[in-house]
Amino acid sequence: MAIPVPEIARILDTYPTTPAVGAVGSHSAIDIADGAVAEGLTSVVLTETGRDRTYAQYFRTLRDASGARRRGCVDEVWEYPKFAAVTSPESQERLRGRGVLLVPNRAFSSYVPLDAIEREFRVPIVGSRTMLRIEERTERENYYRLLEAAGIPAPRAIASPDAIDRLAIVKLPHARRRLERGFFTAASPEEFRAKSARLIERGTITAPDLAAARIEEYVLGPVFNFNFFFSPLVPRSEGLELLGVDERRESNLDGLVRLPAAQQLELSESDRIPEYLVVGHGTLTLRESILEDVFRIGEKFVEAARARYPPGILGPFCLQTCLDRDGRPSVFDVAARIGGGTNVHLALGHPYGNALYREPMSTGRRIALEIRRAAADGRLKEIVT
Ligand SMILES: Nc1ncnc2c1ncn2[C@@H]1O[C@H](COP(=O)(O)OP(=O)(O)O)[C@@H](O)[C@H]1O
Ligand SMILES: [Mg+2]
Repeated sequence: MAIPVPEIARILDTYPTTPAVGAVGSHSAIDIADGAVAEGLTSVVLTETGRDRTYAQYFRTLRDASGARRRGCVDEVWEYPKFAAVTSPESQERLRGRGVLLVPNRAFSSYVPLDAIEREFRVPIVGSRTMLRIEERTERENYYRLLEAAGIPAPRAIASPDAIDRLAIVKLPHARRRLERGFFTAASPEEFRAKSARLIERGTITAPDLAAARIEEYVLGPVFNFNFFFSPLVPRSEGLELLGVDERRESNLDGLVRLPAAQQLELSESDRIPEYLVVGHGTLTLRESILEDVFRIGEKFVEAARARYPPGILGPFCLQTCLDRDGRPSVFDVAARIGGGTNVHLALGHPYGNALYREPMSTGRRIALEIRRAAADGRLKEIVT
């Protein structure tokens, strides 16, 4: 069972009036740190030995003689031999002692075992502790069930390879880089068999992963990742905000689509297989007449999450969608935490966030603002689990 929310609330009672903002050093940690210092809070980044220089050197806060920040936004860097050590008893004690509120990002939920996060990590998390697990497609209680309960449109599931009757995407982990994708597409059972056999042979995927893979309809259309924020501190009608929209750049998939068709056909067969390694993000805005649809989906998600995983979504979350030929969004993935692409509006803010707040409002800054507001009103307990 996950650590009960009242227990976390008791830990908060021991915290200083102004907490620090912490994040695991990868994914969207710069956005989180930048937002924290923009709101006058201290940022703490938890790094792993060997991958710490971005934070410890290049974005590290440097101060002038008077103590004012001269450069950078990462105030403190705590180094760990492995990310998983973040939940060790000594680490937890240090985090609590420093008054750190941890903002979960994907690096946290993928490098630190979910069982340890749910059952052992007695440090307040800004967001929903139990919803981190729904991202794992192999879990029984995954996000597909939540989307279904919420009545949110999602790409149609295809029950088995033999049922593939249109372009489908097959979702399974990469054989070696376990946190990455070994996705492929197929438009018929024959194509599924031929392609999967080649991918197994190449060492891209494994047979056991293939047997457990999710197969779904491929939505032919652009990807829009909607970066939402939900605040329980304001009246419900003001709770849901759309801060920004990003899209991904995926290693050789993007390389392939930048080549004219004639050149694609000249590639060797193995170069023609797209890999979906996320290497960066770009920013987007949405046709205005579709915005209301997107808000409707966001509201449904918030309501379903409250019912199924009380207290539900707190703070940032990301709905990853494809827009179909009629411009209707279909949610193919969910992050019940800060999304992976929020660095697109890091420090600058995003047009939608800025339009709401009348000043630069990135996801990182919005999180810190929520912490500051909650702390000022004695309501921190309502935004953590
Ligand atoms: N149903 C779909 N139709 C079309 N493209 C999809 C679909 N599902 C996923 N994709 C593509 O695959 C990428 C990764 O999918 P996603 O489900 O977000 O995987 P991950 O769990 O690795 O984040 C997306 O960014 C998108 O480009
Ligand atoms: Mg995704």
